[in-house]
Amino acid sequence: MIDLIDVYKAFGPKQVLNGFDLHVERGETFVIIGRNGIGKTVTFKHIMGLMKPDRGQVIVEGQDITRLNGRDLIAVRDKFGMVFQGCALLNWLTVAENVALPLRERTRLSKREIQRKVDEKLGLMGLQSAGHLYPAECSGGMKKRAAVARAIVRDPEIILYDEPTAGLDPIMASVVNDLIIELRQKLRITAMVVTHDMASAYRVADRIGMLSGGKLIEIGTPDQIRTSQNPIVRQFIEGRVAEPSASLGPGPAVAERPT
Ligand SMILES: Nc1ncnc2c1ncn2[C@@H]1O[C@H](COP(=O)(O)OP(=O)(O)OP(=O)(O)O)[C@@H](O)[C@H]1O
Ligand SMILES: [Mg+2]
Repeated sequence: MIDLIDVYKAFGPKQVLNGFDLHVERGETFVIIGRNGIGKTVTFKHIMGLMKPDRGQVIVEGQDITRLNGRDLIAVRDKFGMVFQGCALLNWLTVAENVALPLRERTRLSKREIQRKVDEKLGLMGLQSAGHLYPAECSGGMKKRAAVARAIVRDPEIILYDEPTAGLDPIMASVVNDLIIELRQKLRITAMVVTHDMASAYRVADRIGMLSGGKLIEIGTPDQIRTSQNPIVRQFIEGRVAEPSASLGPGPAVAERPT
């Protein structure tokens, strides 16, 4: 369904993707884990054709999208739903209007048809009574669900979630995890998730790939990753991240606490 073959991408002197290989099966949920700034979001941008690699192939349903431009590329992007890091809802639109946006912009459906699809997706996300609220009136979890509703409103074949549980409390995070699992079951969607939340990764993944040094250094089922003997994988999943603050305790929790 999705293949990245020997992909290279540098920004100036910084080599972000360095011989990156990936194969994602149809209907699979593939999770990419890795440290901040390692290239997870950049990987997603390549898969959606929002960035072009310096070298290598990005194949979506048999088509090398690095060779496409203009209308052909937009047609490929239409296969994707993306839940952006930080939700990216428009604050001046209600939840329902945010969810309707991809339909208004990218289809010629009637108002009534749009309304029907928006209601259906809001219902799926448990937001049926929240359509009239503005993002500022929503909790973080509601915003996340609204962002997912917007990503799936055009019934994409593939959905990409960038840090879907970041900033959520453990209960809300588990609601979002359930949602990812439910969408795979209900809509048979192919999904990729980027996260550094290992609980979420283990929960939703069919397979997990660890990104380090510009490529996936280990790929396996949640059990295989959990018991991996690769020192870089172990360091990451145990939270022994080699950042200065990590010496104070488990990585992410400490890093996110205000000082
Ligand atoms: N458009 C760009 N121009 C220049 N550098 C970029 C650009 N986009 C990303 N980078 C750099 O590429 C590297 C990888 O960025 P990316 O956003 O993929 O990280 P990430 O793994 O998603 O991190 P995080 O967990 O913090 O979201 C970073 O060093 C970033 O500064
Ligand atoms: Mg990112």
